[in-house]
Amino acid sequence: MQREVGHPGVFRDADAVLAAGAAAVLGELAASLPDVDVRVVAADLSTDNGVDAVAELCASKPLTMLVNNAGVAHYMPIAELSAQQARELVHVKVVAPTMLTRAAVPGMLSRGTGTIINVAGMIAFSGPAPASLMPRRAVYAGTLANIVAMSQTLSAELEGTGVTVQVVCPGVVATEFPTVQGMDLSAVPRMSAQDIVTASLRGLELGEVVAAPGVDDYTLLDTVFKADLAAFGAQSPQLAQRYQIN
Ligand SMILES: NC(=O)c1ccc[n+]([C@@H]2O[C@H](COP(=O)([O-])OP(=O)(O)OC[C@H]3O[C@@H](n4cnc5c(N)ncnc54)[C@H](OP(=O)(O)O)[C@@H]3O)[C@@H](O)[C@H]2O)c1
Repeated sequence: MQREVGHPGVFRDADAVLAAGAAAVLGELAASLPDVDVRVVAADLSTDNGVDAVAELCASKPLTMLVNNAGVAHYMPIAELSAQQARELVHVKVVAPTMLTRAAVPGMLSRGTGTIINVAGMIAFSGPAPASLMPRRAVYAGTLANIVAMSQTLSAELEGTGVTVQVVCPGVVATEFPTVQGMDLSAVPRMSAQDIVTASLRGLELGEVVAAPGVDDYTLLDTVFKADLAAFGAQSPQLAQRYQIN
């Protein structure tokens, strides 16, 4: 049986392909999976060369599943965010998933099957929150919202093709993520990474395009999506009355 682990997907000449920045970490992970034939690809997804190298694999190998999971956050006020950090964030969370998905889809379409899982986060829906509740996250929130909108739109575009798209929106997860970002969230209740994977796989069975592992009442998300659609459909070419000066 083919299995998927980590970042971009599954090849026929290997059970799983792991791609991330650090080859040593991937090597350790691969060694911890003795029953899985793993191919390790070290690629820096914050660079065009790194994205292109993985995109080439996504286009040329018969992937059954692509998991766009790599991420950085760089939580800070935008005035303090360096150009390099902003670029890295957008590259890893927007350019990479876009280009890898773009590269993988034609082959999946020609085979009539495939699954793309994009990892975003509940912060994608936090735009209306005041700074007192959710401060210093504008660029990160924007990248996650991009992943949600792209996944929803692509899911509709690929309807009936055999290619499935899902976006996973975790809350706070017990991983290295906050530590890497210099944050201490050890006092905050966190979900396990295993639960996120369980929710994603079960969400696929349930046909959820947006999987939200920590949200019990899915009607809340449905309400958001219906309101999005209602506002989108309510626009007209006429200037809305409240903007008319006379
Ligand atoms: N943890 C949370 O609370 C949380 C909440 C919501 C959403 N998420 C999302 O979940 C996803 C996974 O995060 P995690 O919690 O598992 O964090 P993590 O433990 O820090 O893992 C992040 C992964 O992204 C890879 N990565 C980062 N920059 C990269 C680059 N330039 N090139 C290639 N790979 C790169 C890292 O690989 P290397 O270490 O080898 O560079 C690592 O494997 C992220 O997309 C994040 O936005 C996390």
